[in-house]
Amino acid sequence: MCNIPPAPDWCKTSLRPPAAIVALMASVLVHPVTRVEGSIDIPGDKSISHRYALLAALADGQSTVAHYAPGEDCAATLSCLTFLGVDVTRTTASTGAPVVIIQGRGVGGLAAPTAPLDAQNSGTTLRLLAGVLAGHPFDSSITGDPSLRRRPMRRIIDPLTRMGARLSGDDDRPPLHIHGSALTGTDVTPPLPSAQVKSAVLLAGLHASGSTTVHESAATRDHTELALPVFGVEVTRSGTTVTVSGGQRLQGAEVRVPGDVSSAAFWAIAAAALPRSDLTLRDVGLNPTRLGFLPLLDRIGAQVTLSDITEEGGERRGTMRIQHGGNDPLEIDPTEIPGVIDELPVLAALATHGGELLVTGASELRHKESDRIAALATGFRGLGGQIEEFEDGFHVMGRRRLQGGSADAAGDHRLAMAFAVAALGATGPSNIQNAEVVNVSYPGFFEILSKIRG
Ligand code: S3P
Repeated sequence: MCNIPPAPDWCKTSLRPPAAIVALMASVLVHPVTRVEGSIDIPGDKSISHRYALLAALADGQSTVAHYAPGEDCAATLSCLTFLGVDVTRTTASTGAPVVIIQGRGVGGLAAPTAPLDAQNSGTTLRLLAGVLAGHPFDSSITGDPSLRRRPMRRIIDPLTRMGARLSGDDDRPPLHIHGSALTGTDVTPPLPSAQVKSAVLLAGLHASGSTTVHESAATRDHTELALPVFGVEVTRSGTTVTVSGGQRLQGAEVRVPGDVSSAAFWAIAAAALPRSDLTLRDVGLNPTRLGFLPLLDRIGAQVTLSDITEEGGERRGTMRIQHGGNDPLEIDPTEIPGVIDELPVLAALATHGGELLVTGASELRHKESDRIAALATGFRGLGGQIEEFEDGFHVMGRRRLQGGSADAAGDHRLAMAFAVAALGATGPSNIQNAEVVNVSYPGFFEILSKIRG
């Protein structure tokens, strides 16, 4: 089904490719299929892996993080921690899943870096680390790749500054320069719902005097609130308000990351899109703050069954089975957007399989790894799709099948995978350009795609 270029050596390591190689890489040809079937083990969750790694670095003693996310984003977090004096060992479990062993340096115990830290493509690395470093007694800078250097940082600069932090960006964009300061706990109400902002403030709160409270206007992923108690920190929660007190010590922990439900969503939606499909996804994170797409699949007529549900470290996980059942038109209400923010590209792909999708109230999509509204519209048009673009959303009119063609991932891992899911339902083959960007969150994505053809 897919012509997959062999993985270059840099894909298998945390080394970055020389620019010339990037320019030459790598388009993937995706052929249509009639259905998908089989079962897939889902790799570790990106959001949770970042948090466990950061908290382990701030803990006293050793932590072991099993089933760590395999992509470049979470490798960037480990690399930054190494430059902050943290001893990080990467190994592999007998199942082949990555395991990371981290010797913590204690709260406030990171070492001054001798060069700017490189968060690469990872907004979560940069924003959460900024919260951690704001209260360390040294100067640091965090930068990233061209995509990350375009992303807005005012959303963390403002609340951290209110806590006494001294940090600035280049026109509020990375590189961020942080002059470590004594922080004071405060009450913060971010102007937009964002788990990265909430987490940056809570992590700064660990290094502040007194208590720090974040009031959110809508629930966002709560992995930080759930992870802190695993490392021995007391957290108070009431609705969408969360409080942490400074001065607490963290203890090293043994943790296992559930499968990334945002990665699983690409397969779930491929199965929902194609008639007679039936996929089973194993060890998927089932944190309710991440499952906003399941009621949407229900609304279009797909059948989703959750089973084998367990809980570790406050995080639910289990098996998800998805069977095609229809592709009714779908309208996502703006209040539903925070719960599906990362799934919007692949929900748009679902609509290209004969459905329809209207999204509004999602202007945040313009500030992700790409301008996801503009790049999604350009990509779908390149595959023969009809899509209307708004400032805060889009309308996919998928009543006519895609013909196939060419779509550029535009440096955005979720777009590369969304275009591939859309391409499965086209009448002809589709060329996904710059598809190697899937390595940011899901190395091996295209190999799995080639195995689930029904
Ligand atoms: C994330 C939060 C979300 C999400 C991102 C990961 C996190 O970003 O889109 O992929 O791990 O906290 P925002 O906080 O900007 O909404």
